[in-house]
Amino acid sequence: MVSKNVQDLMEKMTIQEKIGQLIQLSADFFQGDNVAITGPLKEAHLGEAALYSAGSVLGISGAQTVRKVQKNYLKHSRLGIPLLFMADVVHGYKTIFPIPLALGASFDPQVMKTASATAAKESAAGGVHVTFAPMVDLVRDPRWGRVMESTGEDPYLNSVMAKAAVTGFQGTLPLDQNHIAACVKHFAAYGAPEAGREYNTVDISEWRFREQYLPAYAAAIEAQALLVMTSFNTLFGVPATVNQHLMRDILRDELQFHGVLISDWDAIGEIIHHGVAGDLQHAADLALKAGVDIDMMSFAYAKYLAKAASLDPQIEQLINESAQRILILKEQLGLFTDPYRGLSTERETEATLTTENLDAAQAAAEQSMVLLKNSHHTLPLNTATAISLVGPVADTGDILGSWSWQGDPDQTETIADALAKQFSNFTVMPGTQYHHVQFSKLNDAVNASRQQETIVAVLGLPASESGEATSMTDITLPAEQLTLLRGLAQLNKPLVTIVITGRPLDLTEVDALSDAVLLAWFPGSRGGAAIANVLSGRVDPSGRLPMTFPRNIGQVPIYYNAYNTGRPISGTPADDENKYLSKYIDAANSPLYPFGFGLSYGDFTITDWTLSQHNVTPDQPLTIQATIHNSADHAGTTVVQLYTHQQVGETVQPVKQLQAFKKVSLGADQTQTITLTVPYDQLSTIHSDLHRSTDQGDYTVMLGFDSTCTASQPFTVAHQ
Ligand code: BGC
Repeated sequence: MVSKNVQDLMEKMTIQEKIGQLIQLSADFFQGDNVAITGPLKEAHLGEAALYSAGSVLGISGAQTVRKVQKNYLKHSRLGIPLLFMADVVHGYKTIFPIPLALGASFDPQVMKTASATAAKESAAGGVHVTFAPMVDLVRDPRWGRVMESTGEDPYLNSVMAKAAVTGFQGTLPLDQNHIAACVKHFAAYGAPEAGREYNTVDISEWRFREQYLPAYAAAIEAQALLVMTSFNTLFGVPATVNQHLMRDILRDELQFHGVLISDWDAIGEIIHHGVAGDLQHAADLALKAGVDIDMMSFAYAKYLAKAASLDPQIEQLINESAQRILILKEQLGLFTDPYRGLSTERETEATLTTENLDAAQAAAEQSMVLLKNSHHTLPLNTATAISLVGPVADTGDILGSWSWQGDPDQTETIADALAKQFSNFTVMPGTQYHHVQFSKLNDAVNASRQQETIVAVLGLPASESGEATSMTDITLPAEQLTLLRGLAQLNKPLVTIVITGRPLDLTEVDALSDAVLLAWFPGSRGGAAIANVLSGRVDPSGRLPMTFPRNIGQVPIYYNAYNTGRPISGTPADDENKYLSKYIDAANSPLYPFGFGLSYGDFTITDWTLSQHNVTPDQPLTIQATIHNSADHAGTTVVQLYTHQQVGETVQPVKQLQAFKKVSLGADQTQTITLTVPYDQLSTIHSDLHRSTDQGDYTVMLGFDSTCTASQPFTVAHQ
């Protein structure tokens, strides 16, 4: 239903004004002196009219600034149509939560929802209307730096998290002033660039795309995400941004997405480099026909649509449709009622960096940390233990991660400062940097560590080495850090390694040298305090891996829900005797740490599990009751994971597919019975005709604490 207001505006608007709505400019067009005459406008060969008709801007925030820009803009807008403010509010605004990959590791959608709701509240108070999040691209290649923005490799986990993020950002529609519109990105399959190289070609079959990549976008759209962003990559041989099959048939018709489709930055212009458009005018034409409503920063629409519309009524019709969708979005944001959405500096101060928000960020960090190794119960540490704290990330605020442009590393408590609040006896050893260790200082650090009881090495990568445009071919820690770790290991003291990273790394040597390994990701504003709590045992590290960690780069891509080959290995010594199996001659097939893996300070077992019935139908979901016991003498938290496998399908089936999970916290020697349910439709797969349906036949269900679980029971699926 289009409101009377939007209909009236559409009638009054000139074609030029309508095209204006389809144009997004960056912050520098609106900020600074004389912006209308010099600077970016001139560089882009646009006139002043383009500035005051542009429908949206990206990257401006702050209550006062947004008010000022909006006020000035409205002065120039003939019909008083407010400007839309968009920004990348990804894992927090001022209060920074752990990176999305870490939020995925929480295996708790409520954690994602809280992170997104907090980011929405803070950024809405800072004048943001739309966030370019969530990024729900399925990722399997740690060489690609943007894996940090995703929730990982699994279609089901990603779908659950996508829904939680959209609901967190938007609340329940209609949007209120504490929520912002979500833009799910990058449609589609941006997470599968060949060789993990940024912006590279994506070439997967439509069958595989629908089976594994599409579900998370579909979940976000089902959760009513108001916008979608196109991706930079090609898919099925055509750049996504101008791919009519992808955008018209799949996004609009099948997924029934009626909201605003925005290009990624200059993605329309890049079609020329892809070799699918001869010039910018051609690119504009293709993008509009594919249904891209907003052109982010290629200026193709600004320069060519007016002429195209005057020559072709179909183009004019498409412009009308896009302009109307953008006006509807502005209306959904309440901008026609209050173009400032209740902005004030008082509200902004009250809403941001509150204790509540920071506590939530800390809880999220605690819930997303993954304990990868813990020999002989090295962790938790007694708070009286004499600790030597060493490594490039021990005493820096660079723990926020990429896409935290409003976060301030200089104001962020370091891990050293946070530990000092709990551990009475520790020393910080200086002299180590990410890529450079002064060897004299390193020796000092190693020698000084000799005096202490336990060594805690905080290793990893700076935030600048993950996120967009940070593809890398070597995913081991920098050589200098490994040298340091080897030196420390020789001291024969308990050695705890904390890893700060935005991507899976090859931790084979780190694992071998350390007694305990804690994966802290980029843990955000309160990451230091969260790490201190985990080290001291005040909280249990309850994160589980949302991406497989390989033994070495050569195994990549490696993921748990792979297909069996015709020559699978059996995992027994017999494999060694048969050369002609699907395996490597120089490494195992198995990863270093599998998907879903993570240790706890508790000691959990599934003592008993039963299926409510062994036949699943549309009315009778797969239902499992499981009894979980914590036999440790202290509390702990685990994640119970349910996987299924279809024995025989029309197409090949993954060896295992996650279908449900539940985080369970139990006190010492406590037992709890939980129920996990998988609806009939969720067992559906894509057939060779590209349609999704649930097959009748034999299946197995597996239950355990990570994706290597083997305890299984059979069940069957019938249509009635
Ligand atoms: C990224 C998007 C982002 C946009 C705007 C692009 O380079 O790919 O994810 O939303 O910039 O900042």
